[in-house]
Amino acid sequence: MNLDDVRDDLSTVLFTEEQIQARMLELAAQIDKDYADKSPLMVGILNGAVMVMADLSRALTIHCEMDWMAISSYGSGVASSGVVRILKDLNTAIAGRHVLIVEDIIDTGLTLAYLAGNLRSRNPASIEICAAFRKPEALCNEVNVKYLGFDIPSDFVVGYGLDYAGHYRNLRGLGVLSPKVYS
Ligand code: PRP
Repeated sequence: MNLDDVRDDLSTVLFTEEQIQARMLELAAQIDKDYADKSPLMVGILNGAVMVMADLSRALTIHCEMDWMAISSYGSGVASSGVVRILKDLNTAIAGRHVLIVEDIIDTGLTLAYLAGNLRSRNPASIEICAAFRKPEALCNEVNVKYLGFDIPSDFVVGYGLDYAGHYRNLRGLGVLSPKVYS
């Protein structure tokens, strides 16, 4: 799905497919360099990270492996206490592995603060985070992201893995959803 296909649903286009792809290539080049002899285990967080994982991993020139986790965060009251639930755990043991967590977006940072702590307790050789987007104004948990695509405003964004009611994940660019769609 292209931006033009849903242009009426968007109040703003933040990034085109070309801009996102160009940034993913830059991130992949950094990862290639940093993990030159390390064959990282890339851990994607379902569902949103599917697109960034697909693009980033294919842009690498080094070998990597992929695994996936699914997380559910509770409602806002509970979420602020840092409670998230693992719906699907890794298939892979990560002790001694170089783990790279791959996310579509860092919003409050709750998901990644929890995940990084959880995975760190499994004794990987290293653990780093890659995220396509971050909302700095919404951050309330410290997240040390080594590979970041773009900082974005705290608006309701869709595309490149990010959904509204299950739709727009397959949108190639990233845009702000018009309030008329959800109000
Ligand atoms: C989104 C996103 C991150 C999380 C970030 O997932 O993919 O995992 O929210 O938010 P946080 O920084 O406030 O924790 P979501 O729960 O919407 O699930 P999805 O990936 O299946 O859309």
